[in-house]
Amino acid sequence: MLGTKVSFQQACSIIKNGGVVAVPTETVYGLAGDFKNINAIKQIFQIKKRPLWDPLIIHFSSKKELKKLCKYSDPIVEKLSDYFHPGPLTLVLRKNPIVSDLITAGSSKVAIRMPRHPLTLKLMTQTNTCLVAPSANVFSKTSPTRADHVLESLQVPVLNGGPCEVGIESTILEVCFEKKIFSILRPGFIGPKELNSFISRHQLNWKVQQSQSSSFPGSHQKHYQPDIPLILIQTDEEHLPSEGIEKKIKEYYPDCIPQELQLKNNPYIFGREFYHNLKQLSKNKNSVGYIVQKSKSGQCGEDWTALWDRIEKASDKVICY
Ligand code: TXA
Ligand code: MG
Repeated sequence: MLGTKVSFQQACSIIKNGGVVAVPTETVYGLAGDFKNINAIKQIFQIKKRPLWDPLIIHFSSKKELKKLCKYSDPIVEKLSDYFHPGPLTLVLRKNPIVSDLITAGSSKVAIRMPRHPLTLKLMTQTNTCLVAPSANVFSKTSPTRADHVLESLQVPVLNGGPCEVGIESTILEVCFEKKIFSILRPGFIGPKELNSFISRHQLNWKVQQSQSSSFPGSHQKHYQPDIPLILIQTDEEHLPSEGIEKKIKEYYPDCIPQELQLKNNPYIFGREFYHNLKQLSKNKNSVGYIVQKSKSGQCGEDWTALWDRIEKASDKVICY
């Protein structure tokens, strides 16, 4: 079953027998295993070529599981989960002993979320467990948003759930109880605006901040990288002729064919197809992809923060023009 699409029942048996299977979520496909099975966890690290210092997210399917995984007394945790789950928000909380140190890379905190894909939620209820699932790609490469993307890079069984509806990874939020701060470790489509409306809806005196630390485990600069170089062109100009840009790119990549990945006005529509479009561009090994970031464009707002984070980390080079 390696490297093939499997049925729901086959995916259940794989999980129950301590194997790993790629599963759909609303953000990206994850490479999943039973969180209680050390052998499955080890396989995930090996298959992804992921260093053991980079911890894994646990996916859960009910409030009962949330209590089992994490230690908390503040009602804010359940309020957050009731408001945002199932959905693309990962919470970093103090772990219970049931969560192995291998999952958290030795940290006393664990990252958890309830995904919003019916197949994966059903997989967890049928197998009566939670799933550790990092994105189903080789470490530091582009995340998969379709079953075929997984099969193109990993020899694993895949449960096909169609194209992912969000298309970029979840927001990662550390909940700092003492200071009453929600600290965004990785931006996603749930941003300060959504978190602040949660805060005002519940009349709380919590604050939202971007993490000050650039040293959380998965924050390395090179990430989400496609198989061809991606260039980020930054400019103050409103109208840049593509001939000029392409000539500049050829100074660095003389034998390659520059191809633009066009932005869209709506970040959510662009985000849904972003990794897919990167993978399509990468099919032509002679091309270099490029994205133009205009400082005066409509793509500067908060809704674009998560996308610029992914684009910058996926880029081989930034050229100011
Ligand atoms: O949308 C998502 O979050 C997808 C789907 C499959 O759920 N998962 C995902 O997993 O993006 P992964 O492993 O590719 O990225 C998870 C990030 C990593 O950068 C990791 O370092 C960080 O979460 N992380 C995991 N556990 C953590 C912890 N205890 N403390 C801080 N960061 C943690
Ligand atoms: Mg990943």
